[in-house]
Amino acid sequence: SSSVGVPRYTSLVFTVFSSNFAKLLTAIGFGMSSTHMSRKSGKNSAVSSVPEQSEEAHLDQTLRPSRWDEYIGQKNTKENLRILLLAAKERKHAPEHLLFYGPPGLGKTTLAHLIAKEMNAQMRVTSGPAIERVGDLASILTNLGSGDILFIDEVHRLGKQIEEILYPAMESGRLDIIIGKGPSARTVQLEIPAFTLIAATTRIAMLSSPLRSRFSGGTFRLEYYTEGEIEQILRRSAKLLGVPAQDGALREIAVRSRFTPRTANYLLKRARDFAQVGKRPLSREAVKEALKLLGVDELGLQPSDRALITVLVEKFGGGPVGLNTLGAALSEEEATIEDVHEPYLIQLGLLERTPRGRRVTPKAYEHLQGIKQTLM
Ligand code: ADE
Repeated sequence: SSSVGVPRYTSLVFTVFSSNFAKLLTAIGFGMSSTHMSRKSGKNSAVSSVPEQSEEAHLDQTLRPSRWDEYIGQKNTKENLRILLLAAKERKHAPEHLLFYGPPGLGKTTLAHLIAKEMNAQMRVTSGPAIERVGDLASILTNLGSGDILFIDEVHRLGKQIEEILYPAMESGRLDIIIGKGPSARTVQLEIPAFTLIAATTRIAMLSSPLRSRFSGGTFRLEYYTEGEIEQILRRSAKLLGVPAQDGALREIAVRSRFTPRTANYLLKRARDFAQVGKRPLSREAVKEALKLLGVDELGLQPSDRALITVLVEKFGGGPVGLNTLGAALSEEEATIEDVHEPYLIQLGLLERTPRGRRVTPKAYEHLQGIKQTLM
């Protein structure tokens, strides 16, 4: 991916607008939101490409696979994408638009990067909440080059008005902008080059069906990884980080990684810190102690996950209780509960979603009993 440089408006049909397109949009009320325009550079920062990075973000970048053969798991999605990309290449055409969904940390962004690399395409990265106004999207789309990939993360957070601009752009490479209001309103059509939209979401149900139906290249659900796959990912990460891990250490991390590479890599880095500071090797024992300190239990539950089932048990008799009540009791956003905590608890069979609300299972009671002895 690369940063968006000097605006490129060569593709506009109406050249009269070309030099001052952003200003024009501002004048008519479609301006780019000021929070996302860096005035000095004039660059639209709703689109970014990894500017300044924290060490943590840099490490995540290092651990992210940069070749298909390094990408472990998601076999079915990978195979479908392989055929899609091969066919697109043979036809010398941009691949059709793709939608990835699934819990956070399973590699949606990584897949988008790999696709861009495979197609030798530039990737522009943005996200639903970063595109605040119609003008933001118009600016992004008119700055795309032919064959570029536009990656929109958290696409479920795009505004409705913005979605409506996106449809014709996805379907026919056209941007319809309405200028003015009432009887004097006019539509201006701008042509945009052939591009591939790759959108990612943790909440497929929140996408409108017109948007969902426009991902003509396919909609792919990313699955949780197996423990074996996570261990493979960890082995690769430990090598990249230069940490020699003893037998069983990585396995111990793998079982507590919520079947999620991002969590696995996070725990590996924390266990490495722990071993390094203690001037000891990364052994299974060191991992166990490090994870205990982080409050990660044998099932991979973190303190916030345990708080959820504990509140259900102690305050609501195990449930069922509505999501909003649960959110209030935990001082946690409903979206976080739904996207981050619940999928894994449900996957483990500790929690159920019923028509009357959330309920813990007998397994959750057993687990809470069990950890009272080990963690508390
Ligand atoms: N790091 C994060 N996700 C990965 C994956 N699927 N394969 C290899 N390394 C990864």
